[in-house]
Amino acid sequence: MVHPPTPNTTIPKIIHLPCFLLNTHSGNDEFCGREDILGHIASELLPSKTLATAAGVSQLRQFALCGFGGIGKTEIAREFARRHRTSFDAVFWVVADEIAKLDHHYQQISLALGLEDETECKSQVVSREMVKGWLSNARKQLSRSGELDQPGEAASEATWLLIFDNADDPMVLADYWPQGSGSILITSRDPLAKTIFTRRPSGLDLGPLTQQDSLSLLHHLTTNLEEPEDDTARKITDALGGIPLAISQMASIIRRQDLTLSEFYELYTDQEEHARLYETKFDTNLVTYRHSLSTVWAFEKLKPQARQLLELASFFDPDAVGDDLLMEAFAALQSDDLTFKKSNYIDARTELLQSSLVQRDKQKQQISVHRIVQDAILTAMEVSKSSQCLAKSFGRCGATGHRQCPSLQRSRNCHHPNLRGAGYMSQGGRSARPSTRTS
Ligand SMILES: Nc1ncnc2c1ncn2[C@@H]1O[C@H](COP(=O)(O)OP(=O)(O)OP(=O)(O)O)[C@@H](O)[C@H]1O
Ligand SMILES: [Mg+2]
Repeated sequence: MVHPPTPNTTIPKIIHLPCFLLNTHSGNDEFCGREDILGHIASELLPSKTLATAAGVSQLRQFALCGFGGIGKTEIAREFARRHRTSFDAVFWVVADEIAKLDHHYQQISLALGLEDETECKSQVVSREMVKGWLSNARKQLSRSGELDQPGEAASEATWLLIFDNADDPMVLADYWPQGSGSILITSRDPLAKTIFTRRPSGLDLGPLTQQDSLSLLHHLTTNLEEPEDDTARKITDALGGIPLAISQMASIIRRQDLTLSEFYELYTDQEEHARLYETKFDTNLVTYRHSLSTVWAFEKLKPQARQLLELASFFDPDAVGDDLLMEAFAALQSDDLTFKKSNYIDARTELLQSSLVQRDKQKQQISVHRIVQDAILTAMEVSKSSQCLAKSFGRCGATGHRQCPSLQRSRNCHHPNLRGAGYMSQGGRSARPSTRTS
């Protein structure tokens, strides 16, 4: 363990403030909606809302934005930093998906604050501890004796905001977590980020854009809108479930292929074109965001059982499927493996919960999966595999008397080739149900 060096011997006399190290792509012209969330974060993190302990010493404030890939966590963090940076003496953007990046950013912070200069800055571990030391007692200046002012001397206390972006494994932050009285904003796919290093859980699970904001984003990103197409615009944003990444990706296709909204909607609802639209390389925000809809959830990186569970859950009502039913269907899928245990199900479910690909209502013991995630995983499934999955799991469920199974149909499946292949027929609406059951 490396201890922070004693400040009065190693910290140079001048701390470079104000100091803003934001992500290089801080322009955010396309940002849309999310005013309520930005207000919520402001009320938790802005310095004026200092939390005081009983002893009168201000505390660390933290807030985690959680949710699955592409829901818009990073964009909100960027917008928050853009709007409010002048409320802080220092703002640091730290990419937290890899240790190497965390170390790199801490070294940059150390240099930017003037804690070290280029010649001193040799060890990333030392830089990290210097930065943590300063954040823990963030003085604006040194006193005449060359020592830092004492904690509690408010006039000389610097305010800071640290943003850990994409901290999908929040535990890696342990070595980078400062004390002191600043503000920390985390974005993470793992919902547990709301409870790390604190007794007071703080943060939220981010939902989709409202219908109004989805429409504004689509309007903003496509330039060929004509009045009569408003109804089509609504149909498109409904189909994309308010997921900003999906809206951005589809808008880029509309622009690039110079489509009207009606032409696009026709393609989107065509079973053969559907998968191709997901695969299309994404040409907006490539600098800031590296995923398209077909890669964002990295289904191929899930452990086989987690992927199988997600595939299975995608055949059910997206809003709620009972844990007991899902587990039974999951067990049926593993029927060749006589050693199936409840823990297999729980392990697979945990992996999906960690990435926010599924959500769980603990009280009701129900699982939900966003429609667009269901759609993407079904689109990625081979026809033969989905037929087998349906036959094995739901045949077995039916045999044991679960009559909830026919409720397992949802919007996109009505024109999904896999389900047609499996004997499921469209009834012509967003909530069509299978006309026959395979067994
Ligand atoms: N509020 C918004 N306004 C406009 N576009 C948005 C908004 N939110 C997200 N987007 C679009 O969606 C893309 C993905 O958003 P973002 O990077 O914030 O997702 P994320 O939740 O951080 O995903 P990940 O977990 O993969 O990091 C952005 O590059 C942008 O194109
Ligand atoms: Mg992100």
